[in-house]
Amino acid sequence: MKSNRTCRRARISRRSVAKFLTAAPLLALSRTARAAPTPSAVEGPFYLTSTMCYRDIDNDLVKIAGRVEKAGGEVIHLRGRVLDRDGQPVQGARVEIWQCDVNGRYLHSGDSGYRRERRDSGFQGFGFDITGPQGDYAFRTIKPVPYPGRTPHIHVKVLHHGSELTTQFYLAEHPLNRRDILFRRMSKREQDAVTMRFERGSEGPVSTVDIRL
Ligand SMILES: [Fe+2]
Repeated sequence: MKSNRTCRRARISRRSVAKFLTAAPLLALSRTARAAPTPSAVEGPFYLTSTMCYRDIDNDLVKIAGRVEKAGGEVIHLRGRVLDRDGQPVQGARVEIWQCDVNGRYLHSGDSGYRRERRDSGFQGFGFDITGPQGDYAFRTIKPVPYPGRTPHIHVKVLHHGSELTTQFYLAEHPLNRRDILFRRMSKREQDAVTMRFERGSEGPVSTVDIRL
């Protein structure tokens, strides 16, 4: 596991995220305080194992340290805050994400792939960030793609003081959402809480999703 010190050297700056988030109106913050927890979801079979782990597990999944190639797929920025039940920011939480690459393959020995697609050697597959003073986290990754049986999603796990929340983030209005067994079982409110909507940022598409413990 990397230390917080290492994480501060990660290429994706949380400072810019904090600036973005503090611009939110106070009214939104008061609504946050009344919000329900983020719905949990199964971890799935492809959580990172030590045998498949790259040395580089920072919050930039598009570039693996020491490699020339970059990940295939559409690059996106995923940002947000981790908040407690009172809507207060949670500093020092470890936020992990993992997802399949542009070929639909996970960085996991148990994923044998389909249609003999090769694993994208430029995609990190797993990464983490440590939340800052405003509870802010940030990742650079790729827009998730579907694989047989699932609508596109990003797996997310938050660990803080011995407790953890595992969930999955989805693409807004993706046509496969309505057929996805995990997405469909959620209420509309729960679906909204884990849906990524994008706006155009200076570095590409940006989605902001807060996580409520
Ligand atoms: Fe998955």
